[in-house]
Amino acid sequence: MTVAPGPGPSPVAAADRALPSPNARGYDRADWASAFRNVGQELSHVPLQASKGTIPAELKGTLYRNGPGRLERGGQWVHHPFDGDGMITALRFEAGGVSLSNRFVRTEGWLAEEKAGKPLYRGVFGTQKPGGLLANAFDLRLKNIANTHVVKLGDQLLALWEASSPHALDPDSLETKGISLLDGVLKPGEAFSAHPRFDPGHHGEERMVTFGVRSGPRSTIRLMEFATSGPRAGQLLSERSDSFGGFAFLHDFAITPNWAVFLQNAIAFNPLPFVLGQKGAAQCLASKPGGQAQFWLIPRDGGAYAGQPPRIVPAPEGFVFHHLNAWELNEAGPDGFGGEVEGPALVVESIFYADFPSIGPDTDFRTIDFDLIPEGLLERCTIDLNSGTLRTERLSERCCEFAMVNPRREGLFSRYGWMAVAERETGNDPLQAIKKLDLISGERKVWSAAPRGFVSEPVMVPRPIPVGGAEPAEDDGWVLCMVWNGARCGSDLVILDAASLEELAVVELPLAIPYGLHGSFVEG
Ligand code: CO
Repeated sequence: MTVAPGPGPSPVAAADRALPSPNARGYDRADWASAFRNVGQELSHVPLQASKGTIPAELKGTLYRNGPGRLERGGQWVHHPFDGDGMITALRFEAGGVSLSNRFVRTEGWLAEEKAGKPLYRGVFGTQKPGGLLANAFDLRLKNIANTHVVKLGDQLLALWEASSPHALDPDSLETKGISLLDGVLKPGEAFSAHPRFDPGHHGEERMVTFGVRSGPRSTIRLMEFATSGPRAGQLLSERSDSFGGFAFLHDFAITPNWAVFLQNAIAFNPLPFVLGQKGAAQCLASKPGGQAQFWLIPRDGGAYAGQPPRIVPAPEGFVFHHLNAWELNEAGPDGFGGEVEGPALVVESIFYADFPSIGPDTDFRTIDFDLIPEGLLERCTIDLNSGTLRTERLSERCCEFAMVNPRREGLFSRYGWMAVAERETGNDPLQAIKKLDLISGERKVWSAAPRGFVSEPVMVPRPIPVGGAEPAEDDGWVLCMVWNGARCGSDLVILDAASLEELAVVELPLAIPYGLHGSFVEG
């Protein structure tokens, strides 16, 4: 199905083609910028062939991806890609084959703008309605664009956007069923994080742990745990609410068997330019000079500290969107940690930026200067739970984002992390490679899409546990990644061996999908 006429690559990309290329960095800005376009087609169950290699026969399940699929409407571009409407891609693997479906999430805003042929809402990241300040001032409506993550809960697929309710979709057809309040768990419009964490069974059953934040001079975190398997799949198992002093901006969190870990960056929110129509709400966030970042540690139900009040621990300076993992160190700890910290300790591995990265109202996102934006660097904070003191170490000097461990190790010490990285060893650049990092030895393996490819979030899929057999090694499985192929201006699915990062297969998709945000793999 054709959705709406989509423009070709952005005018900036066309202008950039006149520049000498490739540039000194080894990539061509025009290749990078050519991904910013509208997705003009919706496909259903289209079988695809690998153009290189072989799709592993054991890979069985669906990779769901979410991200902005519409960046321009009526000639007006979004101010930031994060304001683009959510589009879901589903790649189904079975018996060495793969098929592709994609659908825009039929949000209220998407439907209305599709009909009007022009933007009707402001965007959180600075997109304005046509008509200047007068048209935008005092319009404080939120457009729930459902573009950040997609996960399966019970029999529903949920397209998530953290400031409001999830949208439920049919997991097979991707048809939008509408806003879901999860059987009355959520109030209409209640914030529901786009970063659930999946507990692989620390308390006897698999759970989805997630949260919602109500921000203000005091902020409240509602922590929720849902069953994800068995007859109760999709049901809320437990919840608690805790209030903290100060404005909270929390995109991601981490879990261990006993804790939900939040990092509250030292950030201030001045809503006035938003109210007056000058800036998007997220552009009103700024680092708070002299402010103190904090870890907010909330005891999980079913854990050793259940029912206790949260603990607050000073955190390092900087800004964090995403965590890799968190885990608890009780006695000697895993190899490489024994004796360094007297337990009990909580270890949190996160991607730190020196400052809050924001695109100001006068900057076109397609022309951003990567050198002026701080890069994300992987760091480990070890919190001594008895003294509340903290030790920080840098795990890698290479610009990275979108890091994950083997999902069976979520909340436990994990030796390996997989992440998207820049091609250069240091400095900020677009993400062009996938790295596997050994968090004990520091050994790295890298697969690169450079010079003309640009990667999205890698998803590590562990090899299935054989019936009656032992669990495979931690790094046994595959890494699935969508790559923007600048050479053919299209999207490729790349399948890597998770242990060696050897390229196993490339599938050229008959779609051109802008850089995505998050996704998940659903087995079966
Ligand atoms: Co995120």
